[in-house]
Amino acid sequence: MNKIAFITGISGQDGSYLAEHLLDLGYEIHGLIRRQSLTERQTERIDHIDHKLNLHYGDMTDEHCLYKIIQEVQPDEIYNLAAMSHVKVSFDMPAFTIKTNSLGTLNILEAIRNSSPQSKFYQASSSEMFGNNIDNDGFQRLSTPMNPVSPYGSSKLMSYNLTKQYRTGYKLYACNGILFNHESPRRGTTFVTNKVVKTAVEIKYGIKNVLKLGNLDSHRDWGHSYDYVRAMHLILNYETPRDWVVSTGETKSVRNLCEYTFNQMGMNYNDYIIQDEKYFRKEEVNYLRGDSTEIREIFGWKPKYTFNAMIDEMIDFWQSKLK
Ligand code: GDD
Repeated sequence: MNKIAFITGISGQDGSYLAEHLLDLGYEIHGLIRRQSLTERQTERIDHIDHKLNLHYGDMTDEHCLYKIIQEVQPDEIYNLAAMSHVKVSFDMPAFTIKTNSLGTLNILEAIRNSSPQSKFYQASSSEMFGNNIDNDGFQRLSTPMNPVSPYGSSKLMSYNLTKQYRTGYKLYACNGILFNHESPRRGTTFVTNKVVKTAVEIKYGIKNVLKLGNLDSHRDWGHSYDYVRAMHLILNYETPRDWVVSTGETKSVRNLCEYTFNQMGMNYNDYIIQDEKYFRKEEVNYLRGDSTEIREIFGWKPKYTFNAMIDEMIDFWQSKLK
């Protein structure tokens, strides 16, 4: 019999890649989508596989609908990818962020505990939970203290702890994947990678003249969503539930990102970038670099994409879209 997966956030970047991956593995897929007035846009990333999916309207803040879906579907695996995922926006919408991300996770865990305790649970945890803590060797790992500096990071830390607590207290198969930044052509264009790539292509095509950014000196460990959703599936199919770090182990600054992207299109980023207060955060995570030794050694997982190959793919995507 086919395994059944339930994915919250299925219409997002990771949800869409994960759904494709699990379909390839023969899973029956259920997904949670929110009702929006612009119905034709909300499933853009999954329209090509829509006929193979079972989509349910619902919301992370509605415990009744989550309970009903989980009770009816009895999924083998539940991937909680739904979130208000934008760090800067979380300063503007702290209550919504906490309700969606933290209480939303609690709603799912309670639904599993009460109606489908055999379901395995994956929680999309984030490197943003570390805040500015870095081990002496320059990496973050499971043992690095967590000290978030945004409402988003705080909301994710609450979910991280709940997931651990439901694992130890209620013996659920519940795991955290602490994923460092991961991107793709499907990334929202208000996140820095896709903003830089899209705007650089627009500048090249004469559609825009400048790129307005905030902090150019923060460093991120950027991987590709395609690689990271494969790690999520491995995490839920290990012999015991536990937490994992998923990262490339390399770090680059926003400035490096701009330099590479503009160079690839024969331009100098210095000629086009303006720094704008509007894009700075109240508090910043300055440096992220994850130690993913364990997932590499235990599963043989490693990223297929290099940073450059990922940015090249994003450039190709925007060039063919905007041509
Ligand atoms: N978004 C954005 N827009 N970021 C900018 C800009 C800008 O105009 N200018 C500079 N930056 C800097 C941010 O200050 C941050 O240091 C870095 O670019 C990356 O920002 P984002 O792409 O917005 O991602 P993030 O690191 O804040 O958060 C992402 O990664 C987390 C994992 O660490 C999100 O995907 C989170 O949901 C995820 O958990």
